[in-house]
Amino acid sequence: MKRKKQAIGVFDSGVGGLTVFKEIRKKFPYEDIIYFGDTARVPYGPKSKNTVIDYSIQNTRFLIQEDVKMVVIACNTSSAVSLNVLKKMFDIPILGVIEPGAMNAVKVSKNNKIGVIGTEGTIRSEAYTKTIHNINPDVIIYSKACPLFVSLAEEGWANHPITRDIIKEYLEDFKTKNIDTLVLGCTHYPILKTAIQEFMGNEVNLVDSATSILSDIESVLKNGENIEKGKDLFFVSDNEEKFCKIAQDILDIKNFTLSKVKLGETWYVDRL
Ligand code: DGL
Repeated sequence: MKRKKQAIGVFDSGVGGLTVFKEIRKKFPYEDIIYFGDTARVPYGPKSKNTVIDYSIQNTRFLIQEDVKMVVIACNTSSAVSLNVLKKMFDIPILGVIEPGAMNAVKVSKNNKIGVIGTEGTIRSEAYTKTIHNINPDVIIYSKACPLFVSLAEEGWANHPITRDIIKEYLEDFKTKNIDTLVLGCTHYPILKTAIQEFMGNEVNLVDSATSILSDIESVLKNGENIEKGKDLFFVSDNEEKFCKIAQDILDIKNFTLSKVKLGETWYVDRL
């Protein structure tokens, strides 16, 4: 669909990417943003590399059809396995969250001991390990998949006692490794940031994809006209109500334009 102004396209496996959307919206108030959350096929974390690549191609095609000028892969799992494929397939700039997150982590770490947490797919891909070692081979990296964090964030249990127990279970090991930086390598994890910081202690820097990607976006954007406030358009592939509820919590907005899309072999857009 042709628009007056080309938008920044953002996709994620579901609601988690709203943490990335929120930072983009804050930093670029005059840009239109189109967000697609693949709520019908979430989670991507436990799925195979090829399935995630396939979904990511479909998501990108959809955003391009909606007339975006760049695609931000907010999802770490998708960035880890599909960024290079998408870059080769499509002509517009495609940005992933792994490299900016890795660069940020290396920059803030003083003792070169970095922890990385993410979904099974992200950790299995070793994308963060490889990228961090490309920047600085001397960094010692400890990584761990924390799949339950995704459900806790989706349940809205950021402050629930169970969340604190699960954080302890997953992250206790890191405490003995003397890391000074922890990469929150999944879009959902910033939702649990306060509880994670409390457990790890204030001396550990938490690095998240949401803030790390902003300077990459800035370098792609040409100077726009700062006249009209940017518009937000949201698309999901299922569970609109749940998305609305979580989006209201994360973004603190009441009214937004949401449409349902079905991607796959036969796909349609049902504008609500
Ligand atoms: N959005 C995913 C990521 O950042 C997390 C949720 C999922 O497993 O789909 O890796």
